[in-house]
Amino acid sequence: MDKIKKLNNGIEIPMLGLGVYLSQDGAETVNAVTWALEAGYRHIDTASVYGNESSVGLGMRESKIPREEIFLTTKLWNDDMRKGRELEAFEASLKRLQTDYVDLYLIHWPVENFEKSWKVMEKIYASGRAKAIGVSNFKEHHLESLLAVADIVPAINQVEAHPLLNNNGLAGCCRSKGIAIQSYRPLGGPKGKLMENATLNKLAEKYGKTPAQIVLRWDIQRDFVVIPKSVHKDRIISNLAVFDFELLPEDMEIIDSMDQGHRFCADPDNFDF
Ligand SMILES: NC(=O)c1ccc[n+]([C@@H]2O[C@H](COP(=O)([O-])OP(=O)(O)OC[C@H]3O[C@@H](n4cnc5c(N)ncnc54)[C@H](OP(=O)(O)O)[C@@H]3O)[C@@H](O)[C@H]2O)c1
Repeated sequence: MDKIKKLNNGIEIPMLGLGVYLSQDGAETVNAVTWALEAGYRHIDTASVYGNESSVGLGMRESKIPREEIFLTTKLWNDDMRKGRELEAFEASLKRLQTDYVDLYLIHWPVENFEKSWKVMEKIYASGRAKAIGVSNFKEHHLESLLAVADIVPAINQVEAHPLLNNNGLAGCCRSKGIAIQSYRPLGGPKGKLMENATLNKLAEKYGKTPAQIVLRWDIQRDFVVIPKSVHKDRIISNLAVFDFELLPEDMEIIDSMDQGHRFCADPDNFDF
């Protein structure tokens, strides 16, 4: 199973990265990023709204891993789209991240008139300061509206996805349009209790792995790029250790069958932030 995926413009993204949502700005995020890079991660997912871009930048620098070896994602926040501040927001993110480019820049949520913001994203892409551009929290109808005006097809759609909301249907739609799919909140988040699920624990026992490793492996085998978050060194290390085993087709099906359409995060058709 490849650790790397080629996006629709030829850029390569590591299949597993570190998420930093709710990682506190300061030592917590700096440590998480440096531990991850030490452990072999080469992909970090942040966003301006997480308030920790400076710490992500610092962690990357402290790691001494060359910038060009790291795949860095950040995201354009909703208020910046509403106020037409896309370019300023992007430049502020670069400054906080202490870098002159990002590997992937995403529209964070499909706020009204996202088509207009996409045109600015295309300009940012043309400037070479984002190696790829994409979207997040887009449903099929959002993608249709975007593609109607887009000169550049998004490289990625980053959406909530985990065993209780597998989003296999949306993934198929994205792939048919050349858009890779990425799952956020793969472990069910901080209060989801997904890691306590009996089916996942039974599979974990069968393979001699943790429930988190089972879910992350399921994501990789179904070709979802995945970005688990942790601020604990042991978990950061173990979450990456998913390339030395394979789930049997029947076990992939068991996890697929856990879907309940359950969202831990907001519905992209109904959010108020
Ligand atoms: N585009 C979007 O709208 C959006 C929305 C949400 C998230 N995201 C991105 O996706 C990333 C991942 O999603 P998420 O942070 O919401 O949730 P998540 O990765 O599903 O879950 C993170 C939670 O799981 C815990 N955890 C980590 N590894 C574990 C393990 N091996 N066993 C048990 N628990 C474990 C973490 O605790 P500790 O930290 O204490 O270890 C944390 O409480 C985010 O960090 C962010 O980068 C994007």
